[in-house]
Amino acid sequence: MGHNLDSPSIKASFLIRKAMAVIQIKNQKIAYDDAGKGPVLLLIHGFPLNRQMWQPQIIGLSTFARIIAIDLRGHGDSELTEGENTMEIMAEDCFNLLDGLRILQPIILCGLSMGGYICFSAYRKYSDRISGLILTATRAAADSDLAKLNREQAIKTIQEVGPEQIIDSMLPRLLSPNNFEKRKELVDQVRTIMRTIHPQTMINDLKGLKNRPDSTDILASINKPVLIIHGQEDQIVPLEEARQMQKRIPEAELTVIPEAGHLPNLEQPTMFNQAAHRFLEKIKA
Ligand code: MLT
Repeated sequence: MGHNLDSPSIKASFLIRKAMAVIQIKNQKIAYDDAGKGPVLLLIHGFPLNRQMWQPQIIGLSTFARIIAIDLRGHGDSELTEGENTMEIMAEDCFNLLDGLRILQPIILCGLSMGGYICFSAYRKYSDRISGLILTATRAAADSDLAKLNREQAIKTIQEVGPEQIIDSMLPRLLSPNNFEKRKELVDQVRTIMRTIHPQTMINDLKGLKNRPDSTDILASINKPVLIIHGQEDQIVPLEEARQMQKRIPEAELTVIPEAGHLPNLEQPTMFNQAAHRFLEKIKA
């Protein structure tokens, strides 16, 4: 029997939220979805989003793998925390969650954008617990000076007038121009997720993003299979950066998703799931 990698409309998929579980880890409540059986694929969301952004993958890929989608600290249904959300702390949260679930065998990590930055930090510390990486819409480089200034400005804006202005300015850049213009339902769904993020969490993330280390130095030493998935029209991380990253990682393949911007898993879920599924099969083989 053929498997169906199609993802139902994201609207319908919001219903799956009931599968949510919460675990207490080091005095902190971390929420996650856990669906399916097989090799473990841990999904790490981007900024300023939460695990709901992975619903098409939970539905489309849980027939082949055990999909765990974490709500990073302060996001979604995870507990609000104080202090900078460094990539290192969030990588530790991911592996503490795996420990809490008694998942000690190597897993596949998949991170989108900020989630990808977290994958690099995780690789530095837990490479023996990682069997493969899916890096999507992400980059290895640290913030430029201009990007750091923009983060500071964004923090000020959130403190002074709240996060709505940040959401409004980010949204058109998250999707491809055409998807932003034509797919109103998708735009609304992404906005809805962004609006759930507590202003303090956004600030904590922005500090962590601004101070994150440059990971270019570790690319050549990644000795696990890597799949890079990138939207052809990503306006936040240009496709060229993904191409450069592929050249530096010894065992990396690149799938470019047409008609997609910075959220290829939501903009083209079927193509994204097909690429991820092929990669899962490759790692299993
Ligand atoms: C994200 O999608 O996680 C952010 O765009 C990352 C960033 O701002 O660098």
